[in-house]
Amino acid sequence: MYLRCSNPDCAARVEGQDRALQCPRCGDLLELALGVPLLDPEVLKRMWLERRCSFDPRDGSGVWRFREFLPGPYAPDEVVTLGEGNVPLVPAGKTAAWCGLKALGFKHLGWNPTGCFKDLGMTVGITDAKHRGAREVACASTGNTAASMAAYAARAGIKARVYLPAGAVSTNKLAQSLDYGAEIEEVEGNFDRALQVVLASAGPELYFLNSINPYRIEGQKTAIFSLLEQLQWRPPDYIVLPGGNLGNTAAFGKALAELKANGFIEKVPRLIVIQAEGANPLARAWKAKSEELQPMAEPETEATAIRIGSPRSWNKALRALRFTDGMVADVSDEEISEAKAMIGRDGIGCEPASATTLAGLRKLRCRGALGSDATVVAMLTGHALKDTDYIARRQATVQVAAGVCVAPRMERAVQWK
Ligand SMILES: Cc1ncc(COP(=O)(O)O)c(C=O)c1O
Ligand SMILES: [Zn+2]
Repeated sequence: MYLRCSNPDCAARVEGQDRALQCPRCGDLLELALGVPLLDPEVLKRMWLERRCSFDPRDGSGVWRFREFLPGPYAPDEVVTLGEGNVPLVPAGKTAAWCGLKALGFKHLGWNPTGCFKDLGMTVGITDAKHRGAREVACASTGNTAASMAAYAARAGIKARVYLPAGAVSTNKLAQSLDYGAEIEEVEGNFDRALQVVLASAGPELYFLNSINPYRIEGQKTAIFSLLEQLQWRPPDYIVLPGGNLGNTAAFGKALAELKANGFIEKVPRLIVIQAEGANPLARAWKAKSEELQPMAEPETEATAIRIGSPRSWNKALRALRFTDGMVADVSDEEISEAKAMIGRDGIGCEPASATTLAGLRKLRCRGALGSDATVVAMLTGHALKDTDYIARRQATVQVAAGVCVAPRMERAVQWK
């Protein structure tokens, strides 16, 4: 296992700098290169299933169960786990019809220990921090990363410092960081500013845990492993997810590339990334077929988890979208609110950022970008209780448009060529 530049045209191997985050040659983000697993895919698939009956704490984690594709090896008692990753794939009932699909599944990553998908990466990030003897970890956050890091750091006995945009984080998420005992720094400005501040303060003593940390990305990959296992390794046509800083898109792309390269799947599902209209730099770049992403100085959306104007993992995300022949779309705050209400009415619930997936699917179906019989899984990234102020403010009055959307115009979706 070693660190290398994530840009395949550079691919510089980074040696002797275990905590580097950027390529010293071209400045792109780094990734972990793992050795090829020694076991045959069918043997590993069976082994991963059998581990569900094991009492080893690592096997009780839906992340570490797939450890052949994770960094390490770490000693079993070094692994910091809260039993994350074991979340269901919930069939969507009314919701599928509402967005014009015959079949839709929600993989609810919000049903993780701290209510968010971040736990999948944090168990690996904090395990690595502990392994290296880190005394203090830090991150900038729109709330969820902070809550997750604070919880795992507390488990590991490591001090946690979180940088939050002042006044722009839901009370519930802030409460979680407080409850887990993190030190909180409020930064004037938005998430992008908070990230600049934490990056500037990172010294040799500080282990940095935003999603540009390649260890976190490795853990987040396992959402795809677990999903495909639940589907008995028959990939869906599409996997839909919200896009903020784009670390999750990068992780999903890496997971699919590794599973394909190692013979676990033949067909690669197409990734669909949905952003909020007011914080949509990736969607803009995609529409313009641009190779460069123009950051937005003042991102604005009520889905505060994805109020991010300068996503750090954009380059990795674009590569993931090209590899999977993916799509990008954006949706308004009204569309998000309506989709969120629909997910609630289906007895599932999620936080606003997660509802972008359903809102985006409905929009893409209406445009005829995907057919009604496509098999689709949407990733719900955060729990409904993550932002109760939003629910009180918005959801009491929201009207959910009745009826199924039928594609009125068969216009091509914004598709990369
Ligand atoms: C609930 C939720 N959904 C989606 C995202 C976006 O994920 P990413 O930043 O990896 O694109 C975040 C990030 O904070 C989040 O908290
Ligand atoms: Zn490079």
